[in-house]
Amino acid sequence: MIQDATVVILAGGQGTRMKSRMPKVLHRAGGKALVEHAIDTAKGVAPPDRIFVVVGYQADAVRAVAEAAGVGSIHQKEQLGTGHAVLCGEDQLAGLGGLLIVLNGDCPMIQPETVAGLVDLYRKTGAGAAMITTDLDDATGYGRIIRQENGDVQAILEHKAATPEQLLVREINAGFYCFEAAAFWKHVHELRTDNPAGEYYLTDMIAILLKAGHRVTALKVADSSELLGINNRVELAAVDKIMRDRKVRQLMLDGVTIERPETVTIDQDVRIGMDSVIGPFSQITGNTVIGENCRVGASTIIDNSVLGDHVEIFPFSMISASQVEARAHVGPFARMRMGAHLEEGAHIGNFVELKKTQLGAGSKSMHFAYLGDSTIGSKVNIGAGTITCNYDGRNKHQTHIGDGVFVGSNSTLVAPLEIGNGAYIAAGSVITLPVPAKTLAIGRARQVIKEGWTPKQ
Ligand code: UD1
Ligand code: CA
Repeated sequence: MIQDATVVILAGGQGTRMKSRMPKVLHRAGGKALVEHAIDTAKGVAPPDRIFVVVGYQADAVRAVAEAAGVGSIHQKEQLGTGHAVLCGEDQLAGLGGLLIVLNGDCPMIQPETVAGLVDLYRKTGAGAAMITTDLDDATGYGRIIRQENGDVQAILEHKAATPEQLLVREINAGFYCFEAAAFWKHVHELRTDNPAGEYYLTDMIAILLKAGHRVTALKVADSSELLGINNRVELAAVDKIMRDRKVRQLMLDGVTIERPETVTIDQDVRIGMDSVIGPFSQITGNTVIGENCRVGASTIIDNSVLGDHVEIFPFSMISASQVEARAHVGPFARMRMGAHLEEGAHIGNFVELKKTQLGAGSKSMHFAYLGDSTIGSKVNIGAGTITCNYDGRNKHQTHIGDGVFVGSNSTLVAPLEIGNGAYIAAGSVITLPVPAKTLAIGRARQVIKEGWTPKQ
């Protein structure tokens, strides 16, 4: 952590090459918005109250992400270029002193250690500015680095402004800079728009600082994958794939078995315990935490949920914003959502849906059921085809089922409803009145037998 560093993340542009109504920096890779990745990196470098995201195109939407992450924002009303983007922060930042680090918001792979390396170089060389570069086989679109004889940087030439000869240069500007804040704010007003795009280029600060007598040095990074910038959806998919591959690789190295790892999608913040097994085509996203010795069956989707140890999820299940305690079983083809909760050892089977429902320890609902807005005690058996009728067309109502209740198959439980401990519901019942503990409730028409009826037909 560098206490006197201010980080500005450039995220004000529209990103026209994305062909999207959404700002480019809100597109997601590895399960996070591009700007969130940049904020994560910034947090590894500077204190959060010295991190600022430049917002412009759809400013409110991007600012909301910055606020949620606990960092500040700078409003760039009109997008007049990357130099103008930083300039818009003058009132907020010019008094802060120390270092000014600028990160492109569309380069989500950059790691804090690499930015720290940039700062080291800046300090060691006593430069007024330092930047990160790399060699690319195809440098199309990037700013090219022109070096001086002593190896220092002489200028950055934007693709559009470079001569055919300069375009042969393979060393590119990655979009990460460290400036001496005082020098930057002293000279930033010298930026002009006399370039093919008519923009205030941040990259022109290099030549400006050189002219003012400062050294400009560059950290050339060998692994260019960390510096990939995203300008279109093909590049977005490429970066997403790299991030996903790294995540599953790390999980495997940490003791998680992943079957056919190239088919699974696991977000960066997901945690999975040792000896758990993840089946092919699973998607595990958001802040999901999975315990040890679990099994997640093929093609299962788990989002923002918590699973204890020894949990078994059979294939094709979908679990979101829910909790599954140790030794519980789910699926195949089951759905849990909106705060559904299976207590220890509870089982739900095929085509069972739980919404805002808690199923107590050791309770079972094995086939075809909808259980919504309910609390269900321990050791309860919910028969096949049971439905909690929780919605009357206007309002949702609660169902409370005590411990040890037996609900016969195809029961219709009309909420609001209380069923006491140990009660027994006869199969095929429509239950509309409270059922006291330890009673049998039968709510169905009595069977009638008509003798000699068939021959008459
Ligand atoms: C920029 C660099 C280029 C470098 C490349 C690396 C400039 C002039 N060029 O080019 O040298 O090789 O990044 O990826 O800086 N933004 C704003 N406000 C604006 C314009 C842009 O906040 O007015 C933000 C964008 O949202 C984006 C970032 O700045 O996150 C970079 O902008 P982009 O247009 O993608 O720059 P490049 O053309 O890629
Ligand atoms: Ca870019």
